[in-house]
Amino acid sequence: MIRKCLFPAAGYGTRFLPATKAMPKEMLPVLTKPLIQYGVEEALTAGLDTMAIVTGRGKRSIEDHFDISYELEHQIKGTSKEHYLTEIRDVITRCTFSYTRQVEMKGLGHAILSGQTLIGNEPFAVLLADDLCDNTCEQGSVLSQMVKLYEKYQCSIVAIEEVPKEETFKYGVIAGDEIEEDIFQVTNMVEKPEPKDAPSNYAIIGRYILTPDIFDIIENTEPGRGGEIQITDALLTQAKQGKVIAYKFKGQRFDCGSVEGFVRATNYFYNK
Ligand code: UTP
Repeated sequence: MIRKCLFPAAGYGTRFLPATKAMPKEMLPVLTKPLIQYGVEEALTAGLDTMAIVTGRGKRSIEDHFDISYELEHQIKGTSKEHYLTEIRDVITRCTFSYTRQVEMKGLGHAILSGQTLIGNEPFAVLLADDLCDNTCEQGSVLSQMVKLYEKYQCSIVAIEEVPKEETFKYGVIAGDEIEEDIFQVTNMVEKPEPKDAPSNYAIIGRYILTPDIFDIIENTEPGRGGEIQITDALLTQAKQGKVIAYKFKGQRFDCGSVEGFVRATNYFYNK
């Protein structure tokens, strides 16, 4: 059973400066809802109710967002505006939140390792809130599709999407053997390869299910691309033991870590 979802949210969000100078990227709203709330709602759809958030300096508003604002509740109660709080109230009552800080931003792998204290020794999901998924598709949310898959395979799972070959340098990219429709046994993974070095055009997006042995592996993983500790490198160690599958998920994803993807997501959700 997977109960916990880890949200690495300590990054600087430099592509959104100056907006992210004093405000976390994860709090940028698509329409009226911050990215991280979409992520928490997705985790809830997958049956996960324990949210573990890795934050950093300047990220306090994330904690305040998932807490009661008594002043606001007092002001708005019984008015015509009360319905604006319905969704966030629902989220707060349905799950628990715990936080830890990544003191130095040494990469996504390192951020996940910082979350070990909140996760313990059980399989868990990882959700990068800046990858925003439309979770209204028939097969359910991306994370719920992956949780179902975990029940069958009981190993680490990465969500993948086909990207144009010239964009492989933005992603972790896998190679693998298709064992079932849209499911691959991963044989290789490379972080942000140049198109000529990419083993395929299957890019890893910000949804993972990880088994807890990943923590020891990350601890023994040397810094890789960009001098950062990469989760892709740690996962490669698991993959070599035959313990990682990649899943071509059903649904639509927006890269809200880039301005272009963020604008596309905003237009998409507005038109819906
Ligand atoms: P990104 O690569 O998008 O980095 O991180 P970033 O700092 O958020 O944004 P840019 O590139 O400077 O614009 C992917 C995810 O990993 C988290 C980020 O918060 C984001 O959710 N992350 C990354 C950490 O939590 N810690 C890190 O050291 C690095």
